[in-house]
Amino acid sequence: MDTSDEWIRSRTGIAERRIAEARDTTASLAITAARQALQRADADPRQVDLVIVATATPDYPLASTACLVQDAIGAADAGAFDLGAGCSGFVYALVMGHRSIASGESDLVLVIGADTLSRMVDWDDRSTCVLFGDGAGAVLLRATEGSAGIRSTLLGSDGSGSRMLYVPAGGSARPACAETVLQKEHALRMDGRQVYRFATQTMADACERVAERAGVPVKDVHHFVPHQANQRIITQAAKRLQVDESRFFCNLERFGNTSAASVPIALCEAAEGGRFRPGEQVILVGFGAGLTWAAALLEWGDAELGRRVSWWHSLGRKALYGWAHVRSRSRRTWRGAIQRLWRLLLPLTGLDD
Ligand code: COA
Repeated sequence: MDTSDEWIRSRTGIAERRIAEARDTTASLAITAARQALQRADADPRQVDLVIVATATPDYPLASTACLVQDAIGAADAGAFDLGAGCSGFVYALVMGHRSIASGESDLVLVIGADTLSRMVDWDDRSTCVLFGDGAGAVLLRATEGSAGIRSTLLGSDGSGSRMLYVPAGGSARPACAETVLQKEHALRMDGRQVYRFATQTMADACERVAERAGVPVKDVHHFVPHQANQRIITQAAKRLQVDESRFFCNLERFGNTSAASVPIALCEAAEGGRFRPGEQVILVGFGAGLTWAAALLEWGDAELGRRVSWWHSLGRKALYGWAHVRSRSRRTWRGAIQRLWRLLLPLTGLDD
């Protein structure tokens, strides 16, 4: 392809990306991330009330990826749904999870951002295929006493920009057919310059507004975890906000744009690296297809990352995942058997199918 490492690095800041293996899917990455989050929090998957997967690349157009995750982790009492808000998806999902807890509807919500955009780019289109990577990240939300947690949120959209970043075919407007495949209409199309302009403006605005809602001057926000699309977009946003760029956590150099997974992957890396201290203010901010944007201001709590989880609990969780697998298979087998039996007996009953 007519591109170069130098062009990609200087225009985007991306040096490496991760591409899912052939056997992996959005769900398999999401399941891995979900299990890691449950392990870190030492939580019982059976207590999860809601599973939300933010994704633009679900395993299937129908059924949801969230249901595949729910089944694989054995969250037997959980509701599950996918959320489509492009690269803003994770922050949107976080806000939904937060509101579900605040309303008293849920106690424990698993929020996942997962995407395999490598399956949806045109690998002959140099203006898009050099940008995206695959990944998943997850967080577990639960109600707490005290000030730590999500303090303010902001969701935004502007559908007039939907054609700036979209996949033309495969939906009800243009169902899949031989022609759509030949014309590569199932691949992502993007007007890079327009998206760039939208992103630089939106990211700074969203940070300012979410800080204002929490009553925190933006200059007092300790950390920003932005959607990892382009280093230049992040630099511009920092300039507009008049905030030192070092307060923006960036890892896009190693992952590229992982769409809905970018904010949770960055959040987890930053937290794991000991970047946040209890009481500090952190803004998560995303923007993407739709057009959409979203932000949440958190006060970092005593997350106790790195806390030792007893081997007994870890083993218990592994056993639960094994049991979830057996449960899922036996349900499918049982349903198949009932169906076959019914087909056998139906002619004898004289009833219609
Ligand atoms: N390698 C080499 N040249 C490339 C290239 C590549 N991979 N991709 C595009 N070019 C060329 C273009 O064809 C253009 O050539 P031309 O002037 O002869 O037409 C030239 O580089 C400059 O293109 P331009 O679009 O102005 O580059 P840019 O500096 O704006 O950078 C993006 C392009 C895509 C990196 C940038 O617009 C961007 O990051 N946009 C936002 C994308 C984004 O974040 N999307 C996800 C949102 S969630």
